[in-house]
Amino acid sequence: MSFDIEHIRSQFPVLHQEVYGKPLVYLDNAATTQKPQVVLDAIANYYTKDNSNIHRGAHALADRATQYFEDTRKAVQQFIGAREAEEIIFTKGTTESVNLVASTFGRKFIGKDDEVIISTMEHHSNIVPWQMLCEEKGAHLKVIPITDSGEIIYEEFEKLLSPRTKLVSLVHASNSLGTINPVKQIIQAAHSVGAKVLLDGAQSTSHLEIDVQELDCDFLAFSAHKLYGPTGLGILYGKREVLEEMPPFQGGGEMIKEVTFEKTTYNEIPFKFEAGTPNIADVIGFKAALDFIQQLGKPTIKKYEDELLHYAKTSLGSIKGFIPVGTAPEKVSVLSFNIDQMHPFDVGMMLDSKGVAVRTGHHCTQPLMKRLGLEGTVRASFAVYNTKSEVDILAEGVEKIARIKNK
Ligand code: ALA
Repeated sequence: MSFDIEHIRSQFPVLHQEVYGKPLVYLDNAATTQKPQVVLDAIANYYTKDNSNIHRGAHALADRATQYFEDTRKAVQQFIGAREAEEIIFTKGTTESVNLVASTFGRKFIGKDDEVIISTMEHHSNIVPWQMLCEEKGAHLKVIPITDSGEIIYEEFEKLLSPRTKLVSLVHASNSLGTINPVKQIIQAAHSVGAKVLLDGAQSTSHLEIDVQELDCDFLAFSAHKLYGPTGLGILYGKREVLEEMPPFQGGGEMIKEVTFEKTTYNEIPFKFEAGTPNIADVIGFKAALDFIQQLGKPTIKKYEDELLHYAKTSLGSIKGFIPVGTAPEKVSVLSFNIDQMHPFDVGMMLDSKGVAVRTGHHCTQPLMKRLGLEGTVRASFAVYNTKSEVDILAEGVEKIARIKNK
């Protein structure tokens, strides 16, 4: 399919509005992406025509809803190259996916004096669940240091590995800096000491081609809403043999085989981990988002976003007072920066008044900001519907703001 940016933009109704009398320039895609009309339609269609609970009804609507729901599971399987659809578990977000692994795999397989390795650039959702688990179990959390440019120091990671390492839980692409981590090498090294690996794919899955079998990760956690899909829906991929060894996450309907007051037996994967009525409408809507991405093709999306990032780095890079944060050579389309002598929050407010939506602050990575000696950054993050003209508006705004302090 040829790349027609106007056609792509026309599919996203929310983009076509003004804020404060200026055209919206939405550059907060690492927080959440906008949704194409096909996703909105799929959700509306489900509620209009098919609304029903799944897996349990003996009627036409329930059959249809179940079919659509399970079609998405298969689409996710293909999207990440999983061996089987049963290895795909629906959760409510990346955070819940990580917590599921901590509560089940973690509680069963991580004990006193065992070790969990994370990195300095983790999102809080890939720090706090492990801290809580380590505290409960008397295990130890080890942190891979990073360089000033925001890259993992691989040799230091190797030094942290030991027979006590039970899990390496690592962000694939940093939400604050955009750094793409050398996950394949890390997974191989972790496996050589018998550790499992969880990848936080919240920021990587929308930009990079992912093949979990090729990567050989044991778990992959990500969210639909950063992939042009609905909010409130997360995915946890896990290798069958690992998932089967794990105890259930929550108790309730659907996750059981048989319940008596004396004893309950549990369902097969993935249902063992999906207690209660799931987020049916958003799962069904997510398939439309995956189709949208597949039609464009990940390599096309990545190439276009790389061009935007390069253009933004060049345009903003020449502004006096502009300080880039996170300068790794391999990045997804995230441009974090500060303006000399200005608080990121003030920069964000001023950009907002020009119609430019960016995120400011610590981006849920406080330990990373501490390591870099920063209170926070301004973060512009690009998606497939952004344009060079929008980057120009960002650069113009930043230039004006920087001029106030850096004459
Ligand atoms: N984790 C999301 C972000 O980086 C919310 O903005």
